[in-house]
Amino acid sequence: MNKCGIAKKDLVCAGELGREEIFELIEAAGKLKKKPLSKRRALKNKTLALLFQKPSNRTRISFEVGMKQLGGHAMYLSPQEIDMGVREPVKDVACVLSRYVDVIVARVYKHEDILTLAHYSTVPVINGLSDFCHPCQALADIFTIKERCKNLKRAHLAYVGDGNNVCNSLLMVAAFTGTKMTVSTPKGYEPNKEVFEKAVNIAKRNASSVEYFVDPAMAAKGANFIYTDVWTSMGQESEREKRLKDFQGFQINETLMGFAEKDALIMHCLPAHRGEEVSDIVDGKNSIIYDQAENRMHMQKAILLKLMCE
Ligand code: CP
Ligand code: NVA
Repeated sequence: MNKCGIAKKDLVCAGELGREEIFELIEAAGKLKKKPLSKRRALKNKTLALLFQKPSNRTRISFEVGMKQLGGHAMYLSPQEIDMGVREPVKDVACVLSRYVDVIVARVYKHEDILTLAHYSTVPVINGLSDFCHPCQALADIFTIKERCKNLKRAHLAYVGDGNNVCNSLLMVAAFTGTKMTVSTPKGYEPNKEVFEKAVNIAKRNASSVEYFVDPAMAAKGANFIYTDVWTSMGQESEREKRLKDFQGFQINETLMGFAEKDALIMHCLPAHRGEEVSDIVDGKNSIIYDQAENRMHMQKAILLKLMCE
């Protein structure tokens, strides 16, 4: 129930979904991938607002195309257009958009703004990335991992790099699905402490484990999926020079891959900075980055249907 007494579902963080719901989404995404254009246009005449404060390729386009395939349509609202929090308060944006559209996907700087949007809107709000988490990315990624290894209990995902929004969401999704996950970051760039502790406990309950290593080689050891993300996320540009120094030794390259399983696959949410967090190995035969990008659309269609039709 939100502020307006309306019962509606949002997707703010992956952690608010349970194990069962995540597996349901994985299954639904698989079906949608096989049959992208169902005859029953479930979201016919529905409108999605893409309220973005930061740039995007994958998130914006996969939601726009996905919405269209489901029979609805999407409208992109650029930062200049709405200027949320500056031109008018987040609360007013939430209440006004709720009178026009049927669902909102928001990409924001401050996670707090997603919470405020979800709190005041009367239509579902989906987090399309905040400084705290990126649930659509992690859900699509676990679907991509499952396509490759069928049984997630046999997968070992190693995340090396910045303990950022993507890492936080991967931790939750891995823990709920019983996917073993190891993380290595430079000191001071660890994932959110609460998220990490929660993931450790959930993983235990699912007969799995989530572990942190200072040494990236230890995290990569025996992994069959090696994941990284940019060292400088959107909004952190002023820290770029310092981060480039602090992250030395945390690049995904041939040397690090040598500690992983022989056929380990390389993952990256993109955009990638070749020569920084990843070498040109990201363009090699073991890279599944474009599967990840494609699967964003299938998974997000499953999310839209879950929030809007169930
Ligand atoms: N991975 C991802 O969210 O990409 P965009 O920033 O291009 O949307
Ligand atoms: N961590 C990155 C992810 C981009 C999809 C960022 O927030 O910029």
